[in-house]
Amino acid sequence: MSRSKSISTTKEPQAFLFGIHWKNDNSILSIEDSLAELAVLCRTAGMNVVGQDYQRILKPDSATLIGSGKVEELKRWVEETRAEIVVFDEELSPRHLRELQDTLGISIHVLDRTAVILDIFAQHAHTREGALQVELAQYEYRLPRLTRAWTHLARQAGGASGRGGTGGVGLRGPGETQLEIDRREISKKIVRLKKELETVRDHRNRYRDRRRRSGLSVAALVGYTNAGKSTLLNTLTDAGVFVADQLFATLDPTTRRVRLPGGKTILFTDTVGFIQKLPTSLIAAFRATLEEISEAAVLLHVVDVSHPNAKEQVRAVHQTLHALGLDNIPVVTALNKVDKLPAARQDFLRKDHPNTVPISALSREGIPELLETVEKALFDTMNYVRVKLPFKAGRLLNVFHEEGTIESLVHRPDGVLVSGRIPGSRLTDFRPYLIEDDRGEKISTS
Ligand code: GTP
Repeated sequence: MSRSKSISTTKEPQAFLFGIHWKNDNSILSIEDSLAELAVLCRTAGMNVVGQDYQRILKPDSATLIGSGKVEELKRWVEETRAEIVVFDEELSPRHLRELQDTLGISIHVLDRTAVILDIFAQHAHTREGALQVELAQYEYRLPRLTRAWTHLARQAGGASGRGGTGGVGLRGPGETQLEIDRREISKKIVRLKKELETVRDHRNRYRDRRRRSGLSVAALVGYTNAGKSTLLNTLTDAGVFVADQLFATLDPTTRRVRLPGGKTILFTDTVGFIQKLPTSLIAAFRATLEEISEAAVLLHVVDVSHPNAKEQVRAVHQTLHALGLDNIPVVTALNKVDKLPAARQDFLRKDHPNTVPISALSREGIPELLETVEKALFDTMNYVRVKLPFKAGRLLNVFHEEGTIESLVHRPDGVLVSGRIPGSRLTDFRPYLIEDDRGEKISTS
């Protein structure tokens, strides 16, 4: 068991963290590292962390998750550190939250990791769709967890999150408790948000269709939060994407055109960072955004190789990709922030991880090699075709030049014979002009 405490005089709400170390645990991070990550999350959300503790448990207590003796101990810690918020490093079930809230008392606000992540997401959502997704996830998370203490606090302070609270709801109906009014209001809001999201998504789908018609291949940047995806996208495109040393600074997907060394233009798209224990409610809320990744020809996995938990973060990203059903897309791994490592360690990385590209998105080191690797990975995903393009289909010859790789080109009186590779998204355009090979079969793929 490890504890630490401090008494602070700052104005930010004081938070005491509590972790659960499950026996037979196969979590990605050790309990200490997970609590350290939670502390960064809490600071990002605007809290001041004044102490932490954890308990090893075999089975959760059905009422309070942790044993009653431990709850009493936690109460003493909270008093001693003058904490106003207790943040659990696990997603609390509605019952656990209610019981813990009742036991710790109305002046203490009990939160969990999910609520903190939702709060950070709320602060960082800039587009309409992003904001709606987060608001919906917040309300869906809160609805089953509403307690009298919560509504009381929400009214006093707008909630620890300070956003999306239910303060200012309408007049009390006959015989209704405040809690019932809040539940009803939240349910109504959920319905309204879902409708609004549908409208926004129609718009996004139209944009997506346009992008599909453009036929440009997409490389999606994925990675643990703070790995440097936005910085890399900036370096690649000078896109001006918001970069901050904060968790989840980027929430909304940003897409930019980038020219590869061989001359092809492709789209790079940046999206929300991953984190271990990414709440399922959030994955669901962001499914539409994350689905954009599923259209990518290649994933560019950005790893902060200078982070002490780099290996664990890589595992968490792989798990999330698996949960999203994205593990069939080819991956190029960029080991970012090598500028922070000593030269010897950089050499070791190059030798020990042959299929990765060490880079620094800040100093631009390794960027040309990275683009070459992405180009090669894209080439491997392309389809081999032999076509005879009549003059009226001259536009497709340009497509071949711009998006594909031409291996041979012969001018004939009635058109052009071309063979080479094109992105899968362009196959339909070329299908009418496929020519037969020596065996009399139409060739569409290698
Ligand atoms: P999320 O929005 O949380 O998903 O983060 P992200 O992966 O987009 O990370 P971002 O680009 O915002 O970078 C996070 C921090 O790492 C910023 O402070 C960057 O300046 C820093 N950073 C990014 N790349 C490098 C690098 O190559 N070297 C160093 N030293 N710092 C870097």
